[in-house]
Amino acid sequence: MRTATDDATSPDLGADFPPGFVWGAATAAYQIEGAVAADGRTPSIWDTFSHTPGRVHDGDTGDTAADHYARYREDVALMAGLGLGAYRFSVAWSRIVPAADGRVEPRGLAFYDRLVDALLDAGVAPALTLYHWDLPQYLQDAGGWTNRDTATRFADYARVVGERLGDRVRLWTTLNEPWCAAFLGHASGVHAPGVTDPAAALTAHHHLLLAHGEAVAALRAVLPADRSVSLVLNPAAVRAASADPLDTDAARRVDGLANRIFLDPVLRGRYPEDVLRDTASVTDWSFVRDGDLAAISRPIDAMGVNYYTPTVVAGGAAPGEARNDGHGASAFSPWPACEDVRFLHAPGPRTAMDWPVDPDGLYDVLMRLHAEAPGLPLMVTENGAAYEDAPDPDGRVADPRRQAYIAAHLAAVRRAIGAGAEVRGYFVWSLLDNFEWAYGYAKRFGIVRVDFASGRRTLKDSARWYASVIAAHRGRDGIGEPQRD
Ligand code: FCB
Repeated sequence: MRTATDDATSPDLGADFPPGFVWGAATAAYQIEGAVAADGRTPSIWDTFSHTPGRVHDGDTGDTAADHYARYREDVALMAGLGLGAYRFSVAWSRIVPAADGRVEPRGLAFYDRLVDALLDAGVAPALTLYHWDLPQYLQDAGGWTNRDTATRFADYARVVGERLGDRVRLWTTLNEPWCAAFLGHASGVHAPGVTDPAAALTAHHHLLLAHGEAVAALRAVLPADRSVSLVLNPAAVRAASADPLDTDAARRVDGLANRIFLDPVLRGRYPEDVLRDTASVTDWSFVRDGDLAAISRPIDAMGVNYYTPTVVAGGAAPGEARNDGHGASAFSPWPACEDVRFLHAPGPRTAMDWPVDPDGLYDVLMRLHAEAPGLPLMVTENGAAYEDAPDPDGRVADPRRQAYIAAHLAAVRRAIGAGAEVRGYFVWSLLDNFEWAYGYAKRFGIVRVDFASGRRTLKDSARWYASVIAAHRGRDGIGEPQRD
């Protein structure tokens, strides 16, 4: 078997991928755009959260972020220079529907319209995500994701964006990582809206999935038939620390809450019995109504997979014992009814997030999805690493560990494809250094460095290397040119 090191230095890593494989990079609206009050945008829950003292590292906010709203043309030019086949971005809901009365803000739509046109002119296919965690604050004021009506509002918003951009955008995603929105947002509270109530988290979880299902129907009604509609999850590569039944039962429960609580309803139209049982002390699940699971399991065209690090668990923790699961410090666990579960570090080197580097986890997740949803195309919609890289005196940013991380994970993707998984693309997280949620600007995931004071962009070595990988691939089969209708 080839090792990660071999692959990291292999000049033909790109050429080794199947024809048509999509090479991309990803961002999200609140993490890069800034311009939070421009063109009629109103606050989202992340504006409120980041402006609440103590919520985000150093008091950082997305007010300016990477200034992408003003600099999008420069960013698209960077993408074209790298040879990206696709760019995954998200739309800020409160730019499009800024108020509770539901009116549509034409200036907000016009921004994404210009962005999509610039991408197509540059030969980069747009991949659009409707929800990357920035719920309009006016909806939060009405209960947010714990209010069932938010799902209906999401479908209305999806229809508006679909009608406007469906003629040019082929790849659509409803939600990004609903696990984080539900459980980091409502159980551990390390993400907006900062709630720490496990019952609220499970309610939000269900309404997020309902929103996904209703948005699938709304998009189908307005998009041309050949468009791809997907859901992006962060499936966990859950491993028990040992074969001890305490540990394997902890792994079963965490797998239930991280993976099966999404995959069973979306792929099979039911919630897993053991998860319903495990969480009975938290909620009676009476928020699930007749017809919801049929809506949630509406067929999708692809599944997006975001992967960074595996999840190693053990059972038998004492009450109050530290439970660092890698998602940010909180006295409250994001995992309902898992008070006795300990989260351990996998062995090996770690990134600046303190996340162990373990590409086998990506392989395992892809093979599991391949087994659970045979024939459903998969895309790695996020993968990458934060490191404390800085420019040298000449301005060069040497980031060999990020390059090695990406290369090793691409090799895992290649292995999964070789074993039969239908992985159609890979998006590096992230194109740009950006606002990393509760970590603010302290963690840099970009293959392009952003100097946040000046907004200046500098290609890191990993970006140059990624461009060479893409060039090797495109040179071979010349794919990735987006088509205009
Ligand atoms: C994912 C998020 C993305 C980014 C990476 C590091 O969970 O989708 O916005 O923060 O983690």
